[in-house]
Amino acid sequence: MSRNSRSLTTQVKEKLIQKGLEKRMDQLAKGTAIPLSIHHHAIPDSYTRFDRQPGYQQVRLMQDGAQRLGVESPFFHVHEGTASARSTIGTQQVINYGSYNYLNLSGHPRVNAAAIAAIDRYGTSVSASRIVAGERPLHCELENLIASTYGVDDALVMVSGHATNISVISHLLGPKDMVLHDEYAHNSILLGIQLAGAQRLSFRHNDLESLEQKLGRHRHQVERLLIVVEGLYSMDGDVPDLPALVALKKQYGAWLMVDEAHSFGVLGRQGLGIREHFHTDPHDVDIWMGTLSKTLAACGGYVAGEQALIENLRYLAPGFLYSVGMSPPVAAAATAALQILLSEPQRVSTLHARGAYFLEHVRSLGLNPGYSAGLAITPVILGSSLESVRLSAALLKQGIHVQPILYPAVPEKQARLRFFLSSAHSVEDIDKTVAALKKTLSHP
Ligand SMILES: Cc1ncc(COP(=O)(O)O)c(C=O)c1O
Repeated sequence: MSRNSRSLTTQVKEKLIQKGLEKRMDQLAKGTAIPLSIHHHAIPDSYTRFDRQPGYQQVRLMQDGAQRLGVESPFFHVHEGTASARSTIGTQQVINYGSYNYLNLSGHPRVNAAAIAAIDRYGTSVSASRIVAGERPLHCELENLIASTYGVDDALVMVSGHATNISVISHLLGPKDMVLHDEYAHNSILLGIQLAGAQRLSFRHNDLESLEQKLGRHRHQVERLLIVVEGLYSMDGDVPDLPALVALKKQYGAWLMVDEAHSFGVLGRQGLGIREHFHTDPHDVDIWMGTLSKTLAACGGYVAGEQALIENLRYLAPGFLYSVGMSPPVAAAATAALQILLSEPQRVSTLHARGAYFLEHVRSLGLNPGYSAGLAITPVILGSSLESVRLSAALLKQGIHVQPILYPAVPEKQARLRFFLSSAHSVEDIDKTVAALKKTLSHP
């Protein structure tokens, strides 16, 4: 077909569309238009009805199953007040193992005061993306403090930790690149890779031989190669071998990204994260990522690293550029929390002591804590979603709140209770919890 005849076809098509539109506009104006729904009979319900969507049907199945078995839903418990080692669910006081308030900084009077002062001065929203009119001194203060804490050039904060991973990974990588990630990597990492269109391969959890095999096989088939791991795995409470990862990334010419959502504030003597834990040079990790929503008592995510990385993201990463700047009280709360973390390392040592104490007792009961390093996250693996829901409900009746983790979040054989420890848990809290676990398990 010649270029001319193709353009003629296009012209004819355009005319027909134009004519069709004109006719319909005319019918609408005269009130003689046939409703479009008349054509909908051919479209199956499953394409149009929300109650026919597989996701909704899965939710209903779960809810109906729980009702038939007489167990209450363990999800969406409403906490009244600040959730730390103690919390109030409805009117019930509980020992709480369901929150990431690792150093008890959410609710700290200085953190609250900083947030209130920020509202008084700047209001509750910056009302624009930072690049246009949303920049406030609070943002720069927080980013400078994060960068100096890591010992790197610069940092950038975004309004969600989940969106930070998506934005950073999808902005830096594309279809000619590859990401190798631990098989337990967080959903936000996987979505970032998907959006980037990069090739994606997982390696077995914390298995660096499996990673090296993949590096050897694929490094030369792609342009950029990013390795992504977490500093402390949120389901299992274990830590990757950072020095070995650094050696591999150098050997194979790859970037290394560490998501410190759960390790910052938890690992290392002062809580400075996995680099302090292993005494790693901060420049050996290319992309430090973390969230403000856990230890740092706020909401949002951060990236820290060299100037060229942060500048690229600051000017171009869509999740930053096209999204509002962090709310003033949130930025101020995170800064205050980080200042307290830096000045009160005893919080971290208490957390480590409580974590080790809890792990020791879980083991002494003959329960399975998986790979937990006993720092702040310890699972009790039960191997049955139903048993996990049942045990969680039974513990709640005794004033202990711990979340069950069920299939499909983990394989059914790995279904578990997951305990998040806080520096505010007392030895008595843990003793009481272990006694309740023992009692409930022996008298189901
Ligand atoms: C490893 C990891 N990365 C990222 C996120 C997302 O962070 P946020 O909840 O602050 O959005 C989470 C959340 O739990 C996480 O566990």
